[in-house]
Amino acid sequence: MPKLLVTIRDGDEIVIDGEFGVSVMEIIREGGVDELAAICGGCCSCATCHVFVDEKFSDMLPPMSEDENDLLDGSDHRRSNSRLSCQIPFSNELDGMRIEIAPED
Ligand code: FES
Repeated sequence: MPKLLVTIRDGDEIVIDGEFGVSVMEIIREGGVDELAAICGGCCSCATCHVFVDEKFSDMLPPMSEDENDLLDGSDHRRSNSRLSCQIPFSNELDGMRIEIAPED
């Protein structure tokens, strides 16, 4: 089973089983992490699914859309490795990816 390694806001890391083709946001939510609000349900309009992605995996992520970039610009916590997790479909290449839930804005 492919894995996603998720650091939650208290610093604990949990390992979640991934499913190919499903968004990283959905995998995190289905894994029981409720601090990722994902209010818009994955429509790229809320930015409450903000995560920091292990930079080793940056090249394997889909390109960022203008909408995602604009939403991340509205966050006080944006970093170079920020992404909206609903915009990342989980794939074979992302097996073992480490991500961190961004602080709440
Ligand atoms: S869930 Fe709203 S932008 Fe990702």
